[in-house]
Amino acid sequence: MIELKHLTKIYGQGQENLCVLEDVSLRFARGQFTVLLGPSGSGKSTLLNLIAMLDVPTAGEIWVDGKNGTALKKEAARSKLRLTKMGFVFQFDGLLPEFSLLENVELPAWMLGKGNPQKAQKLLERFGLGEMAHKLPADLSGGEKQRASIARALRNNPVLLLADEPTGNLDAQRKVQVFEDFARMSREEGLTILMVTHDVHAADFAHAVFELKNRKLLPVK
Ligand SMILES: Nc1ncnc2c1ncn2[C@@H]1O[C@H](COP(=O)(O)OP(=O)(O)OP(=O)(O)O)[C@@H](O)[C@H]1O
Ligand SMILES: [Mg+2]
Repeated sequence: MIELKHLTKIYGQGQENLCVLEDVSLRFARGQFTVLLGPSGSGKSTLLNLIAMLDVPTAGEIWVDGKNGTALKKEAARSKLRLTKMGFVFQFDGLLPEFSLLENVELPAWMLGKGNPQKAQKLLERFGLGEMAHKLPADLSGGEKQRASIARALRNNPVLLLADEPTGNLDAQRKVQVFEDFARMSREEGLTILMVTHDVHAADFAHAVFELKNRKLLPVK
């Protein structure tokens, strides 16, 4: 499903450079729910951004669902692959401030010309936000925005969900609900999930756990 081949990421140039990933090769199977741990600044968000083609690796390749994303040089092609195959939950929700929650969740579908606000409304309801569909992100709590951002990531029925600390602002009960929901989607819908978290309990719900440390991805579970 996801294959990293000799992946290296170096920020900057010359003396100022910072190597975050060095020659990482790994496969994540379809339907696998993987948790990614690692100290702050170790490169977890960098790895997710690379897989989502929001950034380019210094060396190596990333294959997603049989396609070599690294070979796609045109943003239009990258964007299409991203919109049709992937959902992304950003570390800092990434909701557009001038749009309502409903519009934010609807946006990925609208960009594919497949708008259907009822589906966005259903997703909001699933995350306990049905009543807030018409509010702006600024009028919501951090946890509500985070749940809306998960709803948006699922809008185009992705095969791959990339979630960067999606539960950082949620209370314990909501957190477990999200972990259970992710585990169910991976099991029943074959959704491949890569989730960054600092929450050690997340490991109980995942098939695999890796730690990013010293430029390498090491298996923990
Ligand atoms: N665009 C950039 N240019 C230069 N350096 C960067 C850039 N983005 C990130 N870095 C550096 O790369 C390292 C990894 O950053 P990254 O955001 O991937 O860490 P992280 O593991 O997600 O951390 P956190 O848990 O705090 O979110 C950090 O030292 C960061 O300062
Ligand atoms: Mg990060």
